[in-house]
Amino acid sequence: MTGLDEWQGGVGRNWATQWRRTDRSFAALTKRLIARIAELPGNRVLDIGCGAGELSLAIAGARPGVRVTGVDVSDDLVEAAQARAHAGSLANVEFLVEDAARWSDPQSPPNLVVSRHGVMFFDDPPAAFAHLATTVRPGAQLVFSCFRAASENPWASEIAGLIPQASVTTPPDRFAPGPFAFADPAHVEAVLAAGGWQGIAFEPVDFTYVAGEGADPVADALAFFCHIGPAAAALRALATGDRPGIDGRREIEERLVELLERRREGSRVSFPAAAWIVTARRGAD
Ligand SMILES: C[S@@+](CC[C@H](N)C(=O)[O-])C[C@H]1O[C@@H](n2cnc3c(N)ncnc32)[C@H](O)[C@@H]1O
Repeated sequence: MTGLDEWQGGVGRNWATQWRRTDRSFAALTKRLIARIAELPGNRVLDIGCGAGELSLAIAGARPGVRVTGVDVSDDLVEAAQARAHAGSLANVEFLVEDAARWSDPQSPPNLVVSRHGVMFFDDPPAAFAHLATTVRPGAQLVFSCFRAASENPWASEIAGLIPQASVTTPPDRFAPGPFAFADPAHVEAVLAAGGWQGIAFEPVDFTYVAGEGADPVADALAFFCHIGPAAAALRALATGDRPGIDGRREIEERLVELLERRREGSRVSFPAAAWIVTARRGAD
């Protein structure tokens, strides 16, 4: 489970330090997601849970006539996204610290809503998607990616398997906010339909999740997984005095290195990964 307060705190801070590695891990999925988005009309774009901004920046760069707003609850990630927009001299994109479940822009409502893995963390997903439906223009398009089941995502399930108390594969509530909360299409369809979204469709995307590269790809991947995912959660628990069924940082790192060596091929450490690209539209009034 990863809730709002965690994204506003240490989890968001960690992601802000790791955006280059995160963008690399998602690169193959991002390409597919951007291709889907490119098929759709829309000149006013909302990016939900924009993080360090990769998707917003790609859309703003490719479609100079659009205006893009990326919203995220993490100050640290929004700051990283703003720095990237500034470095790229993009004037048609803005990044705001906002909860997407409450944000609206009545002067200029979005007609295209996108997200790369930013929609699985709402406390009350039906309420959040109902709110979003009221803030967009009639007929607005929605496109987002989310993970399929943890069992199809060994980057998470294998790492969780190293840590006795990690619950990524069997969370007490499988729909609780977290990376796999939107794995079940029937659940997602019910959430979106309850909010007034129509034409809901799911495209499965299998991709290679690159965790480490370069002269020492295992060290690179280790640095990544000490900040992101189930091992990072166990390390945060250790730091607050909990014992996630493991003695200490060194033990987590040793187990991780063994796993990463097994997943290494030459100068790359990678895992198979599985996502949905979900599309829907807001009904016309
Ligand atoms: C898995 S990360 C994905 C970040 C980014 N889209 C990317 O692909 O790198 C999920 C993001 O959703 C954000 N988030 C979680 N709940 C949110 C909410 N209610 N409103 C806006 N952003 C939220 C988090 O802060 C985090 O940046």
